[in-house]
Amino acid sequence: MKRILSGITPSGDGNLHIGNYLGAVRQFTQLAKTHECFLMVADLHALTTVQDQKQLQHNVETLILNELALILGELDKLGKSEDLENIIFFRQSDVPLHAELQTILNNVTPLGLLKRAHAYKDKMARDVMEDEINLGLFNYPILMAADILIYKPDLVPVGKDQKQHVEITRDIAGRFNRVFGMKKRNKEIKGQGKDVFKLPEAYIPEDVAVILGTDGKRKMSKSLGNIISIFAPVDVIRKQVNSTYTDPSRVHATDLGHIEGNMVFAYLDHFGNPGKVNELKSLYQSGKVADVEVKEYLFESLLKTFTPARKRYQELKNNPKRVKEILETGAANARSVAAQTMQEVREAVGLTNQYSFFSYEEVQKLSFKGAQSLALTKNITIDDFAKVEQRVGLVKEAVNVEKSEKLIRLTVDFANIGMRTIFTGVRPFGYTPEYFQGKKYLFVVNLVPRKMLNEYSQGMILAVDGEDGKPAFISADNLPVGVKIR
Ligand code: ADP
Ligand code: TRP
Repeated sequence: MKRILSGITPSGDGNLHIGNYLGAVRQFTQLAKTHECFLMVADLHALTTVQDQKQLQHNVETLILNELALILGELDKLGKSEDLENIIFFRQSDVPLHAELQTILNNVTPLGLLKRAHAYKDKMARDVMEDEINLGLFNYPILMAADILIYKPDLVPVGKDQKQHVEITRDIAGRFNRVFGMKKRNKEIKGQGKDVFKLPEAYIPEDVAVILGTDGKRKMSKSLGNIISIFAPVDVIRKQVNSTYTDPSRVHATDLGHIEGNMVFAYLDHFGNPGKVNELKSLYQSGKVADVEVKEYLFESLLKTFTPARKRYQELKNNPKRVKEILETGAANARSVAAQTMQEVREAVGLTNQYSFFSYEEVQKLSFKGAQSLALTKNITIDDFAKVEQRVGLVKEAVNVEKSEKLIRLTVDFANIGMRTIFTGVRPFGYTPEYFQGKKYLFVVNLVPRKMLNEYSQGMILAVDGEDGKPAFISADNLPVGVKIR
């Protein structure tokens, strides 16, 4: 499965508008049907402009809710609501490895490349003094390159304005590969050479590359006040629709109207029912329908499109625990991929040597409560298998899961690494909760949390084949709780 990656910076106030939706989020959920998708809230990037603690916290929280609500809303429409499927949603600063990679990439990035980057160039063109430009802004393309390269994606869906950053990323990746590439070092061993970084492609669908604002002139943008909101109260959205630019030469509903440049129809092309939109277009051109009626239809179409997401927004807002859980799972998945790349990078540049004791597996264990890498490892090798971590857990509580014929929910104490919820699907073999209650068993504890109905299983009980293929459990009653077996 091909991998895609994208990010949104929580500048502005974190609220998304229909331009963001068409230009970014919708692509993403479409692509998620057939791709493995990494989507980050690029909070470190926001620091170039947002330098107020409260403001940043607010922006990031708002953006998280906006993005998740939109994604879940889209999945609702597809009837797949409860699961984020292939989407790994996380916050950039929850994976500090991006910053480490940036530090390394700094050393293969020429100054001239950054001077040509448009965020910096635009400022210089506006006669901003060099002393007023912080290095975060200047360096921005290198952090973005690190964001991308660390996950080795095939495609990077972005708006047109970010195209240059993806090109810079390719340039930096190419330089890294040339300087530190395995190819160079192993050129005598034919066929063994392998570059660390994959050169990603920007993905910019033409028809949504730039969504114009309600003024019909400039790109839809919060700072220009020409947006249509997604999560604002309905009367706000109605006002935004009513103030949308149509055809200035049309005074009466009986005047022949124009479609080109008419933003109400431009939006309807994305949100309306195509048959109905075509009918309205011909009525409009022949002076048989009023602007207000077309606008009313746009308003209805928008509400229809976003009702599932708006519902999700309220739900998520009222359930911070769920939001945190999604981010925690996302960060765990993202870290396990990022750590693998960083191990390769450290080796390629020579940061590892005969005295090395440091390995990312150790770091991951320390920094993250155990949820990690195996689920994303496509082909499990013997080395991967050796990473399986087994511990003794004491079953504090065992109950049958309602609405399931298979599952028993175990609340398991692992002493030093805490309590975990772990599901096992063994009722069909005649096991009951009483069998597990109060006893000690062996559990695998370093798995990516896995969704079971509407909770996550944070590990797995170990079983071996018993009589007649019935799973048998290994009693660990004589071992101390929490102890690591392997
Ligand atoms: P299936 O999930 O294929 O229907 P079962 O539910 O019978 O099979 O058993 C698999 C068990 O593996 C689950 O009950 C669950 O406890 C456990 N498990 C938990 N986390 C993971 C994980 N990340 N990967 C694989 N299995 C997991
Ligand atoms: N710079 C992007 C923007 O402002 C956001 C971003 C950060 C990003 N990291 C990324 C986009 C990595 C794509 C890939 O919109």
